[in-house]
Amino acid sequence: MKRILGIETSCDETAAAVVVDAHDVLSSVVSSQVDLHAQYGGVVPEVASRAHVELLTPVVARALIEAGLDDDHVDAVGATVGPGLIGALLVGVSAAKALALVWDVPFVAVNHLEAHLYAAFLEEPDLELPLVVLLVSGGHTMLVLMEGHGRYRLLGSTIDDAAGEAFDKVARYLGLGYPGGPAIDAIAMEGDPEAIAFPRAIMDDGYDTSFSGLKTAVVNHVRNHPDVATADVAASFQEAVVDALVTKARRAAQAYGAKGLCLAGGVAANSRLRERALDVCVADGLRAFLPSRTMCTDNAAMVAAAAWWRLEQDGPSPLDVGADPNLRLPTLR
Ligand code: KG4
Ligand code: ZN
Repeated sequence: MKRILGIETSCDETAAAVVVDAHDVLSSVVSSQVDLHAQYGGVVPEVASRAHVELLTPVVARALIEAGLDDDHVDAVGATVGPGLIGALLVGVSAAKALALVWDVPFVAVNHLEAHLYAAFLEEPDLELPLVVLLVSGGHTMLVLMEGHGRYRLLGSTIDDAAGEAFDKVARYLGLGYPGGPAIDAIAMEGDPEAIAFPRAIMDDGYDTSFSGLKTAVVNHVRNHPDVATADVAASFQEAVVDALVTKARRAAQAYGAKGLCLAGGVAANSRLRERALDVCVADGLRAFLPSRTMCTDNAAMVAAAAWWRLEQDGPSPLDVGADPNLRLPTLR
């Protein structure tokens, strides 16, 4: 039995969690800086780094206390080393290494994208493989075939904007504030998803996606129809994004004989995406894995879970592993 302290500081959430053996979450503390960045309409890297410096120690302390480990220590410390904002990453990585040294336990370098993949395993430890994972966040949109633990095949990704980025940009244009995903999700409930036929980008045989044309289509539509209901624009935009994502994911699951379809990343919290993914799974006899919304967005429990798997497979990471803002998912080729 291993208790892992996970630390996440790659973007604008300062998070720490203690997880036992990749599925038993003893504590998961997330301190969001969202209000801090909202006034700028997006994450300001330098502001994020400084906030992580202030918040990380109390967040780690709370995670340990909530896990009942304040007078004891953990068996390993895992931290996100990339991808993400370099200054933000460095805060978590430095703290994790310091704690590992002081406690004399292994340090584990965690890939943020792999951590998102492991969020589903926290709640469903017995997920059957192969699995198609639709990883959709603010910075990434990837369709991944998970063949085994640590064995990923990248089937496709976005050729321009990430899905979450598209939600954030369109929300900003519509004056719905930041972060845009949850705002569009909420207002879309009041709108008609078929009100406007926005284009579905790259519906060809491949698995790549594109969202920048859709964003331009939204801007053009609103310019040409100034009286259009914002809820209808939001619902129709959301429908176009979800349609493209679900169509590709479904096709991939069929082509690779996947046992199930799993959603991961912040956009996986989207109500319509969850609904449509579930419909497809029921229709095609696939298992649907929809992690709870708090596990979809950035958190440290998923980092601790990924650290546990990496520790099992590769052992501890050397302390000279640095933060890498452009780290990629280690894929098979
Ligand atoms: O995974 P995440 O928390 O951070 C990154 O690693 O990027 O994802 C954040 C992204 C943001 O773009 C946010 O707008 C989007 O996830 N998001 C959503 C929803 N909740 C968060 N997008 C659509 N619908 C939501 N309910
Ligand atoms: Zn993320």
